[in-house]
Amino acid sequence: MGVMRFRNVVAVAALAGFAFSSPAMAEPQVEVLHWWTSGGEAKAIKVLVDDFKAAGGAWTDMPVAGGGGDAARTALKARVLSGNPPTAFQMKGPSIQEWHEEGALTTGIDAVAKDNNWDGVLPASIANHMKCEGKYCAAPVNVHRIDWIWANPKVLAKAGVAMPTTWDEFNAAADKLKSMGVTPLAHGGQSWQDATVFEAVALGVGGNEFYRKAFVDLDPATLGGATMVKVFDQMRKLRGYVDPNFSGRDWNLATAMIMKGEAAFQIMGDWAKGEFSNAGLTAGVDYLCAPTPGAGYLYNVDSFAMFDVKGENKVTGQNLLAKLIMGKNFQKVFNLAKGSIPARTDVPLNAFDYCAQRSAYDMNVTSGNGGLLPSFAHGMAMRNAQAGAITDVVTKHFNSDMSSADAAKALAEGVKNSL
Ligand code: GAL
Repeated sequence: MGVMRFRNVVAVAALAGFAFSSPAMAEPQVEVLHWWTSGGEAKAIKVLVDDFKAAGGAWTDMPVAGGGGDAARTALKARVLSGNPPTAFQMKGPSIQEWHEEGALTTGIDAVAKDNNWDGVLPASIANHMKCEGKYCAAPVNVHRIDWIWANPKVLAKAGVAMPTTWDEFNAAADKLKSMGVTPLAHGGQSWQDATVFEAVALGVGGNEFYRKAFVDLDPATLGGATMVKVFDQMRKLRGYVDPNFSGRDWNLATAMIMKGEAAFQIMGDWAKGEFSNAGLTAGVDYLCAPTPGAGYLYNVDSFAMFDVKGENKVTGQNLLAKLIMGKNFQKVFNLAKGSIPARTDVPLNAFDYCAQRSAYDMNVTSGNGGLLPSFAHGMAMRNAQAGAITDVVTKHFNSDMSSADAAKALAEGVKNSL
């Protein structure tokens, strides 16, 4: 509702002698800071913007470009430090707790969560991430899986290679592609993308327990041990499979290389599927998806955390935003565009493609066998300082001739110094 219309409503209400309660009439307003600027990401957030406007709200969009959100998080810090936080920020996992400890978040949406039975429709592990001392301070939109390989089927067929199911198969396929002059791995040399590939490799090469010990428990012996050396050996192999222009490339441009047949594989979370869908491509026909070799599942839950802001309109805006985000139909339409699966467990998946159905199936299986593990590269497993320390080493190794043994040693030391 615009200001003029709002005034008119007040005037009419006054003339008619109605009791006018301002909280009920406050125009919902939000200013949302996020980094969803690629084609697929923008299409997905538009679903939320449109729903919010249709419900009578005013949405101020604050996109800060940069995959993985590093630039957006820097912008957020500056906003909070200057005493001017956004109403909501796309935030994840332990960062929600870190911002809560700073006193920056509000649990005002807890009443919306209670009224709409969030505890009953979210897996407990996701719900716990969304709570600040037992009350909801964030609303989840989805579950992204990280450990995926995307491929161009025509390129694979031409080289006579199949989707790999082991890292040895991956290397053999990549060697063959390379010998034919095809770039085996589309990659963007940005540190968060290096970390994304690294955690998928770590899960596959080391297994679920290794991953948990290294990236959840931060066990020094595992971080610096012999298995980690093997993980870095595989990273060195992958470095040999990227094209010469990989440095600094955005992730969606790497996805475009798969679409155009300029490269065979990309290892990336399923927001890559948002790009394929946005280009009108069909899973299983125009592109293939398969989990990276390994038995686990690396999850990444996008959510909107609510900042402690003043003003009735903004508080009303947060409540409306929270309600819409957890809407059953919203979770379907949004995630069809985003490439992820709904956070709610009661959304039917029949409209989703086989990649999404595989994701939901594997999530269910791994949640029962210890294989459902948080992505460290996307802020789900540990605090920012430790994730940053690991990412620094991974990127340094990928972009130099550092040995695997030195990298594993540096990893253990880096984490120790960041604690
Ligand atoms: C992730 C985020 C995804 C996707 C990706 C690339 O961290 O969870 O939603 O946007 O970054 O920007």
